This record gives sequence, structure tokens and C-alpha cells, in this order.
Amino acid sequence: MKLKHFLQFNDLSKDDIYYLFQRAKWLKDQFKNYKKYWPLEDRTLVMIFEKASTRTRLSFESGMQQLGGSAIYLNTKDSQLGRGEPVEDAAQVISRMSDVVMIRTFEQEIIERFAENSRVPVINGLTNEYHPCQILADIYTYIEHRGSIEGKTVAWIGDSNNVCNTWLQAAELLNFNMHVSTPKGYEVEVERAGLYDDSHFEQFENPMDAAKGAHLVTTDVWTSMGYESELKERKSIFADWQVDKEMMNEADKDAVFMHCLPAHRGEEVTAEVIDGPQSVVWDEAENRLHVQKALLELLLIGRV
Ligand code: CP
Ligand code: NVA
Repeated sequence: MKLKHFLQFNDLSKDDIYYLFQRAKWLKDQFKNYKKYWPLEDRTLVMIFEKASTRTRLSFESGMQQLGGSAIYLNTKDSQLGRGEPVEDAAQVISRMSDVVMIRTFEQEIIERFAENSRVPVINGLTNEYHPCQILADIYTYIEHRGSIEGKTVAWIGDSNNVCNTWLQAAELLNFNMHVSTPKGYEVEVERAGLYDDSHFEQFENPMDAAKGAHLVTTDVWTSMGYESELKERKSIFADWQVDKEMMNEADKDAVFMHCLPAHRGEEVTAEVIDGPQSVVWDEAENRLHVQKALLELLLIGRV
């Protein structure tokens, strides 16, 4: 089988993505009905974390176990990774002792260097630039709740971060529209987001205008991991980029609200919205498990 990595959303084709969604649905059904399915027996996933995580670690670790395999957790604090061992050397060694590697790190360049030296598939579990597993789960969740996303409008309110960049790549690949509103100075950078052009998104100065008519409204923390020194400054700059009831009222009447979590109620979103009837955040979080199991299956054994 040809070695395949998932380092950014468009590493998969549109066809692969819809195949994954179909498998995720089947895997979710098996899981809900306590049916054993162990295609990855004796396979090992190594998870490398340079940043904190709850959902990503849990969904990959339990997902791997549910597929019959096992998962090993490494972090930079208590491995040689944090003591200057070259990424290339670490990739050579780790990929000789495992079957698949998931990495959460800082610059995208780190994971790309790792993948170039890896004998096994590498999955991006979040970098400064992208969070592709998150958007697989988000789009799968939208489809579960509302059907096809093609031609729909997704409003992104807040920081043009890793999650936003990945939504934009997905819009190009799956043909939907993005309305993005960020404070001045935090706008989307087409090249950094890995986009072909700007034809699938529009930037709005006023977040209320971005939300208008949207079928999905989504946001994320104002300060992502790695940018903590900007926390105070960002709190005041982003104050008007809060998703509240008034903003949701601008969206389509059937609009759903999503957040990759962890959330800060009273900052990027009000409690009324995230805990309200339009919010699908718990399904969104759970679906990380199901789509990533489909991804592990695809990268390790191909289509079944
Ligand atoms: N959404 C997400 O990736 O959550 P964690 O940081 O908890 O993994
Ligand atoms: N943008 C956030 C996502 C956390 C899951 C961060 O990078 O910290």
C-alpha cells in the first residue's frame, strides 16, 4: 500500500473524504451497538504532544483501542524530543517501532519534516497552521444534522487560526462558502492557509455581516496555544467578535453553532449560544472519535 499522510485537509481527495464519512457512520453504529471490530489488532499508534490536549488524545487513544490496536503517548517534556533530538532522527526511530504516528506540534514545517523521514503514515493532530481532524469531525457533524454542506455558507467569527485555515481548505475541496470576520490585523493569509485562491471565502469587517444568512456559525478561542503572551491584548481586540444570540439571529433560522472546544464562555461565545438549542458542540466533539477511526482504518489498511 502506498504511504499516505494526513498533514493538511487537502491531502485527502474529495472522494476520500466522502468515503471516510461513510465509514465513520458505519463505525459509529458499530460502537453504539457494542459490536467488536478489530481490523488494527497488533497495530500501534504513537501520539506525540508538544501542546496540551483532552479531545485529541482521548479520541485517538480510545479509537485505536476500539479498533483492536494500542496507543502510546509521548510528550516533549519527558522524552528526548524536548532535549533537541532532531525531528528527522526521531521520525526514523519512532516510525520503525510503530504503525502510525499522530503529532500535535507548533509549526507545520515540523510535522512535514517528520513525515518526510517516516516509514509509516503521519497524522496532524494540530499545528499552528492547521487542525484537519477537527474539520473532518465538524463537517461530518454538519451532514448528520443538516445534510450536504455543498453550496452552504459557514461563518467564521474571530481569529484566523489553525481551525479557520482548515475550514477554508475544506471549502475549496468540498465546494461551500466561508464568511470570515476577524479584527483588523488578524485577517486570513491565503498562502499560510494553503489555499489556491480566495474564491471560496469573503472577509467581513463586521461580524454581524459575516453571520448573515449562514447555515453554520463557528468560532474558536481568541488566543490559541503558543500565543499566550498575547492573551491580554487579544482580549480587548477581539471583544466584539463574540458569538451571541443577536449574532445567531442574523444567521439562517436553521443554522447550527459549532466550536472545536475548549471554549471560554463570555469571551468568544456566550453561554446562551453554546449551551442553547442551536449548538451541536457535544456531537461535534464525539465525532472526532468516529471520523478518526475511519481515518486510521483508511491510512493503515486502505478501503475495505
Ligand atoms: N478540539 C481539540 O482538538 O481539543 P483538544 O485540544 O482537547 O485536543
Ligand atoms: N485554535 C486552538 C484550537 C484548540 C483545539 C489552538 O490552537 O489552541
